[in-house]
Amino acid sequence: MKVFRTIRELREELNSCKQSQSNVSVGLVPTMGYLHDGHASLMTRARGMSDIVVLSIFVNPIQFGPGEDFETYPRDEERDLALAKSHGVDIVFIPTVQEMYPKQVKTKVVVSELTSQLCGASRPGHFDGVTTVVSKLFNIVKPNRAFFGLKDAQQVAVLQQMVTDLNMDVELITCPIIREADGLALSSRNVYLSQEDRTQALVLSRSLNEVREAIDCGRAATAAEARLMLNEIIRSAPLAVIDYAEVLSFPELSRVEDETVLVDMQGEVIMALAVKFGGTRLIDNMLFKPKEALLLV
Ligand code: PAF
Repeated sequence: MKVFRTIRELREELNSCKQSQSNVSVGLVPTMGYLHDGHASLMTRARGMSDIVVLSIFVNPIQFGPGEDFETYPRDEERDLALAKSHGVDIVFIPTVQEMYPKQVKTKVVVSELTSQLCGASRPGHFDGVTTVVSKLFNIVKPNRAFFGLKDAQQVAVLQQMVTDLNMDVELITCPIIREADGLALSSRNVYLSQEDRTQALVLSRSLNEVREAIDCGRAATAAEARLMLNEIIRSAPLAVIDYAEVLSFPELSRVEDETVLVDMQGEVIMALAVKFGGTRLIDNMLFKPKEALLLV
C-alpha cells in the first residue's frame, strides 16, 4: 500500500498504473478518516469492484461551519493506515489543508434545492463544502467508481445530482448503513458520546424500526402519523434534542405531505433523523418502499 500526501505524486502514480496496464478501473473511497466498520464495508466493496482502490483521508475544513467540530474531529492516522492495508487498499491519499486549498477558495460546486432541507438547513454551507471537495477529489483521482455510505443519505442524493448535472464520468456506488449489534449506526463522532448518551442514542434506530413496523401494519398510515410517532419515540429519551425527524421522498428529498398515505406512494421514502445527545449531533435514517410492504402482506 502506498501513501501520498501531494496531488502531484498521487497523479504520477495513477498515471503510471494506467500506462502499465490497459483498462484499469479505479475505485475511490473518500473519507475524513477515523475509520470504522462502515468505512470498512466501503473499502471491501471497492476492492471487489476495482483494480486499484484509492482511499482518501481528509478532514475537509470547508464543510464545517463556525463553532462545529473541525478542530476536534477525531483523527488517528496510524490506525487508519493499518485498517486500510488490512482491507486491501492500494493507495491512500492524505493531503494537508494547504495541499487541497493552497489559496482562498473562489470556486465552489453548489447543488441547489436538495441542500436546502435536513442537514443543509441545520448546517448552512455544509453541502457546498462536500460537493466542492468531492469534485476536487474526482478531478485528482479520476475514479471510475466512488463509494459512499447511506448513513449520509442526503449527501448521496446531493452527490448523485452533482454527478448527473455536471456529466461527471464516475459511477456512485452506495453501501448500506453499518450498525453496532445494539442498532447504533456507526459514525466517527460516536466517540464523543458518554455512556449515558450512547445508551439513549439507541432510541434513533429503535424509532426508525418501530415506525417502519407501524407503517407496514397501518398503525401509522399517513406521513403526519409517521412523523408524530418518530418524534414521540425520540422524545422519550430525556437527553435527546431533536434537530429534525422527517419523512421525505428519496432521492428528491421533498417533504411528504401530511395527509399522504405512505403505502400509496410509488417510489422510495426516507425517514431521516438528526438528534443531539449531550452536544453530539447524530444522524440516522431508513430508506424503504412503503408499497412493497403492502404487497408482502
Ligand atoms: O462523508 C464524508 O466523510 C465526507 O463528507 C466526504 C464525502 C469524505 C467529503 O469530505
